[in-house]
Amino acid sequence: MATNRTFTMLKPDSVKNGYIGAILEKINAAGFRIAAMKMTQMTVADAQAFYAVHSERPFFGELVEFMSSGPIVAAILEKNNAVEDFRVLIGATNPADAAEGTIRKLYATSMGENAVHGSDSDENAAIEGAFHFAGREMF
Ligand code: RTP
Ligand code: MG
Repeated sequence: MATNRTFTMLKPDSVKNGYIGAILEKINAAGFRIAAMKMTQMTVADAQAFYAVHSERPFFGELVEFMSSGPIVAAILEKNNAVEDFRVLIGATNPADAAEGTIRKLYATSMGENAVHGSDSDENAAIEGAFHFAGREMF
């Protein structure tokens, strides 16, 4: 599989708080090319499937409820070393631990409402991109 693409969602808190433009600007400034993008909303079943890897974790119900609570912006991003570099750009899962200047430090409010998703591997980036986009929606 390609090693130069990752998948992201601007989570419902980012959309609700008006941060779409600011976050996309950070993504552009960091050198990512947008290969696919749309605004969409996950159903509860969608969110359960997307985060199935976390189904046994205590926060799963809360995570599914939040991620299906409002519209998101889903995107596939392209850059050398995309998965790792995007995780650096977004910062730690808990915004309290996120480095200065990272997207979560700037725009997240809590561990649950943490502004953005970033794939954790090339394999998951491909699976997650295909979850949200048809082939004709990827460029
Ligand atoms: P993401 O998948 O959304 O990019 O976040 P991540 O890799 O940094 O964190 P992950 O471990 O994959 O967890 C997925 C999301 O679940 C919520 N979470 N809550 N209350 C908790 O202890 C807890 N732990 C994780 C976060 O919203 C996290 O982004
Ligand atoms: Mg994760």
